[in-house]
Amino acid sequence: MHQARVWDHLLGGALNSAVDRHAASVLERELPGTTRLARANRRFLHRLVGVLRERGIGQFLELGSGLPTAGHLHQVVAPGEVVVYVDNDPATAAQGRALVLGSADTVAVEADLRAPATIFAHPAVRRVLDPSRPVAVLMLHVLHLVEDVPELLHRYRLAVAEGSALAVSHLSPDYLAPADRARLARFAAAQRCTPRSRAEFRSALLDWRLDGAGMSTPDTWPDPPTGQPSLAFCCVARADFASELIPASG
Ligand SMILES: C[S@@+](CC[C@H](N)C(=O)[O-])C[C@H]1O[C@@H](n2cnc3c(N)ncnc32)[C@H](O)[C@@H]1O
Repeated sequence: MHQARVWDHLLGGALNSAVDRHAASVLERELPGTTRLARANRRFLHRLVGVLRERGIGQFLELGSGLPTAGHLHQVVAPGEVVVYVDNDPATAAQGRALVLGSADTVAVEADLRAPATIFAHPAVRRVLDPSRPVAVLMLHVLHLVEDVPELLHRYRLAVAEGSALAVSHLSPDYLAPADRARLARFAAAQRCTPRSRAEFRSALLDWRLDGAGMSTPDTWPDPPTGQPSLAFCCVARADFASELIPASG
């Protein structure tokens, strides 16, 4: 069983076994709404590609990508747009490489997202991605597994060109009813992961500037939340000259 194959099943993919499917049903029982979140994140990703393309961004760096199946990035970008999938699980990365083999613009690499310098120096990444042009740095349902988020986001900000974007979907209690918040807290303690509030995440943005759409849910972004429960918030932030002068707030 691996998280990437469990997620593949939640997304309706076929690269999973009976063990993964069982783990997915246990996960949905322990944290109801997970399947819905996986699918909402995928739709958020699809809307993001369109919005970021309009801003002139045609390079997508997906960190903690999981398996590139079930309508993942390289299946929805336009010809000539660049996709880099990064996952630290060797089997997931190997399967990813096999799935995108022969593509001129898409690569899948095995790397830890906590090491941006290693990722940008990776020969396969250097072959397709031009860091002097805007890049979309995507972290969907993975930052709850990371400790020092402000430092990490700052290092990505330094690694990308002005005009780049950061898009995040993050496990959070903010859009849950009190009983569901308590369940999420128990889940997080058992799984040793860290859901975060919108306020906490906003203060981690440092030199990234929160996009005009602000914080929302993967179901509704770029529109505001509708009041429907969600296990995550999502947002987009920009790397631009102003973001170096104005700390993220509000
Ligand atoms: C929930 S899954 C896939 C999420 C995917 N972004 C999506 O929206 O469908 C999270 C993935 O992150 C990977 N992962 C976890 N920690 C990581 C790290 N430090 N560096 C890179 N990948 C990581 C796991 O191996 C797993 O495949």
